[in-house]
Amino acid sequence: MKIIIINGPNLNLLGKRDENQYGNLTLEKIEEITKTEFPEDEFVFFQSNLEGEIVEKLQNSVKDFDGILLNPGGYTHTSVAIRDALEIVKIPKIEVHLSNVSAREDFRKVMITTPCTNGYVSGFKENSYLAGVYLLKKLNVK
Ligand code: DQA
Repeated sequence: MKIIIINGPNLNLLGKRDENQYGNLTLEKIEEITKTEFPEDEFVFFQSNLEGEIVEKLQNSVKDFDGILLNPGGYTHTSVAIRDALEIVKIPKIEVHLSNVSAREDFRKVMITTPCTNGYVSGFKENSYLAGVYLLKKLNVK
């Protein structure tokens, strides 16, 4: 499967963020373990701090990829634009969060993007990504 893993704002600083919430791995390390865990699949990792760039990446992914894994970061709780892009893009898509957003501040419990995905994984640090890929592959089985 050809999968794009889109990461939103501040995820470029993983490794320097609150370890209790996000673990201690960098995004580059998460990319490495994902590729090691699923050697038969093809991955493109993308990170942006800019909402519009994430929207464009989502719009364009439909022609190049079989599935999307998305961690919208803080945009999860604010972005109507990312939600609308997700609604338009008709390939399997799973949202992932390193932290358990349901156990955090109330403003994080508002999840604007999540209902426009096939589902989400949250709270397992880097393993959220691995579980997300596993589930995407299951969705892709015809
Ligand atoms: C996050 C959770 C968001 O609430 C937060 O703003 C992030 C990371 C996560 O992976 O746990 O930046 O998406």
